[in-house]
Amino acid sequence: MKRTLSIGTLFATLSLGAVASEQETRDLIGFGALTFADNCMKCHKIDGYGEEALYPSLRDPALLANKKLLIDTLLHGRSAPRRNGGEEDLMPPRDYLTDREIAAIIAFISNTWGDEVLLVSEEEIKAAR
Ligand code: HEC
Repeated sequence: MKRTLSIGTLFATLSLGAVASEQETRDLIGFGALTFADNCMKCHKIDGYGEEALYPSLRDPALLANKKLLIDTLLHGRSAPRRNGGEEDLMPPRDYLTDREIAAIIAFISNTWGDEVLLVSEEEIKAAR
């Protein structure tokens, strides 16, 4: 079931200097859920498990804590062959998404399937484009 945002997570986030109130973070996660449904769910599925040999599972806390990898994968897609040698089907770039949409998706997937919510600033995304 969906985990709710813990206060501990928020304090950890705030102490890193991100300026987001609890309400703003909740709004971002909610927006991220909708954006994920429209742009990612077709392949990675509603539960994030993907589809074996075709689309990788996103339910991996290490992956969901890796800011750079997430931003780069969403903006530029993946052109490398599948790590497990499965059928080759690459991740298409999602660079048509706005900076806020990408930040929201990352907040949603990390909060839902990772160890803690990962907040990425729109500036960080802009810089990686
Ligand atoms: C058309 C299908 C498709 C869509 C749509 C799609 N992906 Fe992917 N995604 C893939 C495939 C295939 C891979 C594996 C690429 C590879 O490593 O070869 C992948 C890889 C990834 C990875 C890296 C996984 C890892 O273990 O390294 C992340 C993160 C990811 N996708 C997130 C997303 C998000 C978030 C969205 C929506 C914005 C999205 N994807 C939309 C097909 C898709």
